Amino acid sequence: MTIDVVILAAGKGTRMRSDLPKVLHPIGGVPMLGRVIGAAQALGDVETTVVIGHGAELVRERFADSGVKFVEQTEQLGTGHAVAQAIPNFREGATVLVLYGDVPLVKTSTLQDLLKASASGPALLSVMMDDPAGYGRIVRDDAGQVQAIVEQKDADAEALKITEINTGILAAPANLLAQWLPELSNNNAQGEYYLTDVISRSVSENIAVTGVIADDPNEVAGVNSRAQQAELERALQADIADALMTAGVTLLDPARIDVRGTLTCGSDVSIDINCIFEGEVTLGDNVRIGPNCLLKNCQLAAGTLVEANTIIEEAILGEACTVGPFARLRPGTELANGAKVGNFVETKKAKIGLGSKVNHLSYIGDAEVGEGVNIGAGTITCNYDGVNKSKTVIGNGAFIGSNSALVAPVEIGAGATIGAGSTITREVSADELAVARGKQRNISGWQRPTKKS
Ligand code: UD1
Ligand code: CA
Repeated sequence: MTIDVVILAAGKGTRMRSDLPKVLHPIGGVPMLGRVIGAAQALGDVETTVVIGHGAELVRERFADSGVKFVEQTEQLGTGHAVAQAIPNFREGATVLVLYGDVPLVKTSTLQDLLKASASGPALLSVMMDDPAGYGRIVRDDAGQVQAIVEQKDADAEALKITEINTGILAAPANLLAQWLPELSNNNAQGEYYLTDVISRSVSENIAVTGVIADDPNEVAGVNSRAQQAELERALQADIADALMTAGVTLLDPARIDVRGTLTCGSDVSIDINCIFEGEVTLGDNVRIGPNCLLKNCQLAAGTLVEANTIIEEAILGEACTVGPFARLRPGTELANGAKVGNFVETKKAKIGLGSKVNHLSYIGDAEVGEGVNIGAGTITCNYDGVNKSKTVIGNGAFIGSNSALVAPVEIGAGATIGAGSTITREVSADELAVARGKQRNISGWQRPTKKS
């Protein structure tokens, strides 16, 4: 089956009250249009045309590398007119699948069902709604055969009672659409060229139309306002939480996790409340994440524990590491197995070796730390002189006393010891002790100043 997907994304989205084109607003961290393109491309070998209008340049830019084609609809004259803009891209013998850039949660499996139903003529996707106000109604005959779609504004009292509504999503042979769309009339209540009129046209030509009823209203719901965006965000997050639990992940509260991207978990992973996962995050077996953590584009190997209020971004953590509470691992952090990064520690472009510890109140940036190193509380790598970033290298088994400043570039040899409170500006060789601080003076008989009356 040759499938030409057309995604309508020309509308303004006035009710979003935003400078950003509506279809670029995210759901689950991905622009709505990106989700729709993804669902279409997951069908396999499809060609996709996106019809753009309002904010065309921004949309084009954002999806320049997505493999879709764009056509511009300069005036929004209706959904039928919009699809007609894509006719030059229709391929011989193709089935055209019409999707919407602001209907972000549509599932590939539903689209497959619809495409199957379109083998002998147009197929439309409908859904039952308790309150169908505002939508096009599906008119069926006594035998249940689809006859037409009647828009709310064109509907009589009888049609208004119908609760099966048009989602707008349909599949139809390209040759029929290429013939019918240019012949649509705009003689209706809104003066628009309605895509929905191809249904009655098909029936009048004795080509039966199949209706496929979607079972999840969220899957076919459109976003016209921030409130609807938030509603679908929650629906998506609930689905993701369900899928994680089904896969064996413990969520302390499935209503308090947000995945804005892809979260992949091994077995017996546990995630406490209020955690956010962005981009691609992978958690190995038995990883535990404490409450209020933010993890972005990172990989945590088996058995690693992340305690409360920790932020991890673009980092790779080995097995059985402990991080936090209140740690911040910035891009380029790599922890070897068994490493520990404790509270109020910030790392950036730092490799921390096997079993090494940075337990309290430190900044370790542009650093290479060997195995079995102990970095005392308050240690700072002074990696920036105001112009250049420089590197700190710490050898295996070194011991850095508390409150030391390591002024990079600098190297601390294996087994070396740094006395607490030192400011180290020169290389320290293996196994040496370096102490670089003011000598202690004790003055006996010292009189504190007193206030004169
Ligand atoms: C349309 C359907 C209606 C259905 C409803 C579901 C028609 C005539 N009606 O109505 O049966 O129940 O969707 O939400 O199709 N667009 C363009 N260019 C245009 C017009 C629209 O790109 O010239 C895009 C819009 O950006 C929007 C989508 O098409 O994403 C739907 O357009 P809209 O005008 O909102 O259609 P409805 O009146 O809601
Ligand atoms: Ca609409």
